[in-house]
Amino acid sequence: MSSEFEGLVAVVTGGASGIGLATAHELASRGASIAVLDVNPAVDEPWLAVEADVTDTESVTAAIETVANELGGVDILINNAGIGAVGSVEGLDDAQWARVFDVNVTGMARVTSAALPWLRQSSHAAVVNTCSIAAMNGLPDRALYSASKGAVMSLTLAMATDHVREGIRVNCVSPGTVSTPWIGRLLEQADDPVAERAALDARQATGKMVEPEEVARAIAYLASPLSVSTAGTILDVDGGVTRLRMRPAKD
Ligand SMILES: NC(=O)c1ccc[n+]([C@@H]2O[C@H](COP(=O)([O-])OP(=O)(O)OC[C@H]3O[C@@H](n4cnc5c(N)ncnc54)[C@H](O)[C@@H]3O)[C@@H](O)[C@H]2O)c1
Repeated sequence: MSSEFEGLVAVVTGGASGIGLATAHELASRGASIAVLDVNPAVDEPWLAVEADVTDTESVTAAIETVANELGGVDILINNAGIGAVGSVEGLDDAQWARVFDVNVTGMARVTSAALPWLRQSSHAAVVNTCSIAAMNGLPDRALYSASKGAVMSLTLAMATDHVREGIRVNCVSPGTVSTPWIGRLLEQADDPVAERAALDARQATGKMVEPEEVARAIAYLASPLSVSTAGTILDVDGGVTRLRMRPAKD
């Protein structure tokens, strides 16, 4: 198990923080060579850290070339870089719509497109996209973010179909609220961070936020050379929020 990814090169976008960082650790612990692609790629690990912005085609192309030159190819791509947006359709302007779709959706297409020539050469090619429960659940004040993650879900299925016969499996994870620096930033902005934290914990049927390491292990499952029959899967790591209908807790 510990050498499941031995000899494979994994690229993790947004790999310098939160879910991406936990995924890089998980894949490295199972033997993968890791390249982190991030706008701010500083990581305290002996990995290849490449500064790249997923909204910039030139930057993405150069980054994938660097990875292939330095590590010998690309076998696994974790499309995880993403940004949030708060508000209903009323409070969001065109620039915000363009920006969030550019990072969260087109960014995945750009990086995958750049990596495809290398993925085609791999005998264990896999792409895992980070989606969100926002794709399938109506969340308050998340119109733009939810729309972008709905697009990620559709894109995952379309990409899975396009590339499965080339031996490239494409899947996504759909996390609930995950305890990452992103959520830390949201809590800092809340009027009552303690009440907000409790509300975010309560969103999961399990009553607690998802840990980034749990999402990382789900991503590792989807990316694994042992998961050859898993393609076009949307794997919930959401504390039950998408499918469980709970009765209010008794005091
Ligand atoms: N935290 C959650 O509750 C949660 C839940 C569901 C899905 N997600 C998704 O998980 C992914 C990671 O979120 P996280 O919570 O770990 O966030 P995070 O903010 O901790 O990490 C995101 C990383 O992406 C990088 N990044 C941002 N824009 C980039 C760009 N244009 N190009 C390259 N890198 C860029 C950031 O520098 C950062 O290192 C996102 O796609 C997010 O939508 C998060």
